[in-house]
Amino acid sequence: MSLPSIVLTGFMGSGKSTVGRVLAEGSGRQFVDTDDLIVQESGLSVDEIFQQQGEATFRSRERAVARRLAGLPDLVIASGGGLMLDPVNATLLGQNNFVFCLVASPEEILARLTASDLSRPLLSGLEPEVRIASLLAERAESYSQFPPISSGSRPAAAVAEEIARLVADSAPEPFICRLPVSHPTGRYPVLVGNGLLERLETLVDLNGQVAVVTDQNVAQYHNRKLSPLNPQVVVTVKAGETHKNLDTIRLIYDRLLAGGIDRQSTLLALGGGVVGDMAGFAAATYMRGINYISCPTTVLSMVDASVGGKTGVDLPQGKNLVGAFKQPLAVVADLDTLDTLPAEEFSAGLAEVVKHGLLSAPALLEQLEEAAISQNQGKVNITNVQALIVEAILVKRDVVEADPFELGRRKVLNLGHTFAHAIEQASVYQVSHGRAVAIGLLAALHLSAALGYSQPALQERVEDILGGLALPTRIPGKLEAEYILRLMDSDKKKSAGRLQFVLLKDIGQPFINDEVPETAVLSTLRALGAG
Ligand SMILES: NC(=O)c1ccc[n+]([C@@H]2O[C@H](COP(=O)([O-])OP(=O)(O)OC[C@H]3O[C@@H](n4cnc5c(N)ncnc54)[C@H](O)[C@@H]3O)[C@@H](O)[C@H]2O)c1
Ligand SMILES: [Zn+2]
Repeated sequence: MSLPSIVLTGFMGSGKSTVGRVLAEGSGRQFVDTDDLIVQESGLSVDEIFQQQGEATFRSRERAVARRLAGLPDLVIASGGGLMLDPVNATLLGQNNFVFCLVASPEEILARLTASDLSRPLLSGLEPEVRIASLLAERAESYSQFPPISSGSRPAAAVAEEIARLVADSAPEPFICRLPVSHPTGRYPVLVGNGLLERLETLVDLNGQVAVVTDQNVAQYHNRKLSPLNPQVVVTVKAGETHKNLDTIRLIYDRLLAGGIDRQSTLLALGGGVVGDMAGFAAATYMRGINYISCPTTVLSMVDASVGGKTGVDLPQGKNLVGAFKQPLAVVADLDTLDTLPAEEFSAGLAEVVKHGLLSAPALLEQLEEAAISQNQGKVNITNVQALIVEAILVKRDVVEADPFELGRRKVLNLGHTFAHAIEQASVYQVSHGRAVAIGLLAALHLSAALGYSQPALQERVEDILGGLALPTRIPGKLEAEYILRLMDSDKKKSAGRLQFVLLKDIGQPFINDEVPETAVLSTLRALGAG
């Protein structure tokens, strides 16, 4: 019978390799050291990789190793000091494995480090003691996700024995990824894992009364999971984009007032992007703003809508024309909710994952290329949904942290969206947001190629990926190109009277272009099937 693997993390010099070898020997597991694997594969030492290829290359080699080791049993894995600080690696290796953090004081670490350790780029600059202490402080929060094992002053055998005792006869806890997001006035965690809703009160600080906003579809499956919170008010709105409007907001305000929700209360959104956008907007404006927690229940709202603080509703004139920035206290993405998500909605959310892959994470595209549609339910089968979602959130997080109010770089997140919003609106919201994004991405790639910025092969590749995810790749023919173009004009992404498009030179190279001729837009729309 196979044994769950044991992953050791902690600062360099905390004893991961020494303890790991003893533990492997004593527990019938095989020992691997992630730095050694990287050195073997690259033919370069860790220092040489840092110096010749840069830290980013080293980190991507670490990701590749984490991906390869994920899911393998019977190992003791000594992970490089920074490897488990990356939320994707932590998710890949944390799932179904035991993870421990070896802890030692800066003095104990210093005493263990060799001269060559001390010459590492990571420790260069200040006095080593000072540098070690400051790096430990920087990493304390990430390391604290994992159970600590004191290793500084004890022999390796004693540390290994303690770990062996802790794992004996027990199974690893399901892994919850905690991803911090910073914004101008603070920070909040995004939690991604299974079984989170039922124990929400242990995961987030909830003061005051709780009001829940959800929709009819979500309510029937998931509301009861929140009963330990004793919500004072539960507002169940009608599902779908056509209800994301000011009438529903007014209904939410009425219910909050009638239920006695005050300024100290917390509003909790349980649902997809539509519920999140409305509940967030209500929380931003009710009594000039109350606490807000987002519990996304669709792939789309997990990877996109619930991170970044944008909330709002549609007007008859167009999508998302009224809104506010509202940062949540926490985002809790319970992957179990995805079990009840219809196959078509699951796929729709993956369109935003494709977008994030195109913006800066080619590995996401590769994972989606490998995804297969399961025969029985038509639902896309992803090998590791938790890791995929975490990796997609990271793309969004990095962009919104750099530009919280969309004054510059954040605009790249609108890749495909000028097209998508107009297609949604032209279809009177019969085409859902995610499906419109799939078509919009192809339109953006077509336009990029037509204007000579990118290779047509990229559009073909993305078309194959989207087709493989059961997403549409053509504009429904009954929608007229001229009409779609006119709707783009009222999209708020217009700046100084000109339409802005996010175009792509290649994967990872988006840019804004506001001088696209209308004729080029029309021919792209027609090439993609518009009438
Ligand atoms: N604020 C942002 O930054 C941002 C970013 C991207 C998208 N959005 C917005 O998000 C919306 C799209 O989000 P969406 O795709 O999640 O749509 P949605 O909220 O309409 O959900 C899709 C459908 O799935 C149902 N559903 C949701 N969770 C379910 C579950 N777990 N089980 C069964 N059914 C479930 C819903 O009732 C709905 O019918 C759009 O309005 C878009 O503009 C906002
Ligand atoms: Zn979107």
